[in-house]
Amino acid sequence: MYVCLCKGVTDSQIRNAVDGGATNLRQVRKQLGVASQCGKCACLAKEIVSSAVEENQIDMGALCYPLA
Ligand code: FES
Repeated sequence: MYVCLCKGVTDSQIRNAVDGGATNLRQVRKQLGVASQCGKCACLAKEIVSSAVEENQIDMGALCYPLA
């Protein structure tokens, strides 16, 4: 779904940016331009970034447990 209509950025692109190493909205904005024009998408974009970062941390946490 489109999150940022001004720049044509989708939620998938934001999640991919997080998977690629971005950890906050500022870094995603720099990469994709999201929330850099009117700013109306900033809250939703930030929620998606936070959610994706959290999901990645959970995935990483699963890797930290030793195999039995
Ligand atoms: S909708 Fe994202 S900057 Fe306008």
